[in-house]
Amino acid sequence: MLDKMNPWKNKNNSSILREQKNAIKEQMIPEHVAIIMDGNGRWAKKRALPRIAGHHEGMKVVRKITKLANEVGVKTLTLYAFSTENWKRPKMEVDYLMKLPEEFLGTFLPELVEENVRVEMIGYKESLPSATLRAIEKAMRETKDNNGLILNFALNYGSRAEILDAVKHVLDDYKNGIINEKELNEESLSTYLMTNGLSDPDLLIRTSGEIRLSNFMLWQLAYTELYFTDVLWPDFDENHFLEAIGTYQSRQRRFGGV
Ligand code: FPP
Repeated sequence: MLDKMNPWKNKNNSSILREQKNAIKEQMIPEHVAIIMDGNGRWAKKRALPRIAGHHEGMKVVRKITKLANEVGVKTLTLYAFSTENWKRPKMEVDYLMKLPEEFLGTFLPELVEENVRVEMIGYKESLPSATLRAIEKAMRETKDNNGLILNFALNYGSRAEILDAVKHVLDDYKNGIINEKELNEESLSTYLMTNGLSDPDLLIRTSGEIRLSNFMLWQLAYTELYFTDVLWPDFDENHFLEAIGTYQSRQRRFGGV
């Protein structure tokens, strides 16, 4: 029976999603969305599964959200996939997390190519296992001419180390006469960061109810709108993503002005 009071009840999920997508597209879409994908371990624990099952489920969500972000016109999606602190986890879990980019790209790279997605990475490449790095570099090579969404993996990434390295690099360039004191400002310092060439995130989403930044893009998030949700990353779906964008669209950004 049709519910006259609540027309949404009469529609199936895909038509609601389509209408939500269209509504979202009528307003300002955040150019750069960054996500701290948290809660994989808890998702698995709730189901009495090993933690790695949560990470595997989380990988499938990466595919869904990438596709949707591209569709609604997000230009950059940065995903915190592994932090410089995550090496402290049990070796078995670290090994598994390091295999995920290979598995993900091994399966979905053709789809990303077809969808015009460009794969990028920020983080310390040197200490990644060679197979992981090979998979990422292959994806970067094969998608370098794509001009749709930039899918930017933060892999072995830590923001304080990034800022410290930028400062060291500036000092070197100063000593070598490449940059002087006058030329050093917020804009030029940004070019020394791993995110050089990318805009700062407009929206940061963190899942799983944790309200912290965990050493993620500390410089770049200065004026970003923050969105925290209790939903665990493996449960995060298209509706949750559109809800986060809707909330972003309802915020007033003032960048320190009035
Ligand atoms: C944090 O949840 C999540 C991570 C450290 C890994 C995130 C990785 C993915 C979602 C998959 C990435 C996919 C690709 C393609 C690289 P947690 O383990 O800390 O969860 P918990 O806080 O519930 O224990």
